[in-house]
Amino acid sequence: MQERTLIIIKPDAVQRQIIGRVIDRLEMKGFRVTGAKMMHISLELAEKHYQEHKGQPYYDRLCRYISSSPSLVMVWQGENIIKLSRNLMGETLASQARPGTIRGDFSTAENYNIVHGSDSPESAESEISLFFNEDEIVDYELTIEPWLS
Ligand code: TYD
Ligand code: MG
Repeated sequence: MQERTLIIIKPDAVQRQIIGRVIDRLEMKGFRVTGAKMMHISLELAEKHYQEHKGQPYYDRLCRYISSSPSLVMVWQGENIIKLSRNLMGETLASQARPGTIRGDFSTAENYNIVHGSDSPESAESEISLFFNEDEIVDYELTIEPWLS
């Protein structure tokens, strides 16, 4: 099933200049980027994006981190991308993320975990609408797609 998801390359990855390596993992899998913008996410927008975590002990620190420096905010599309892109990212916390995953390979800090990916079709659509107008997203087909799915 073709799906869309919101993927954010977070401030730690932008500062560490590993944007390309994160994008490479997603492209290697066969996914395509359909929207992208560099954004210095405001504290207000970070709080909205992570509203379901409000009240958690890490919430304030998380929102400060996401709004501390620019991020690359993207929409990606592909077959079963929500689940499969989260598999590529690995577990949330560095101590649990396996080598071979994006977080497992690039992150040691529990609080700074490189990348965000939506966790369901419903959250993907609401997160996409928080960051993008539909006219900023360009849908297209990859001609090699039948070989990958
Ligand atoms: P969550 O949605 O559970 O993880 P994921 O990003 O894998 O979907 O949590 C959102 C972010 O909150 C997570 O990327 C990092 C932060 N976080 C912590 O700092 N500590 C924690 O114990 C958890 C669960 C999350
Ligand atoms: Mg999540």
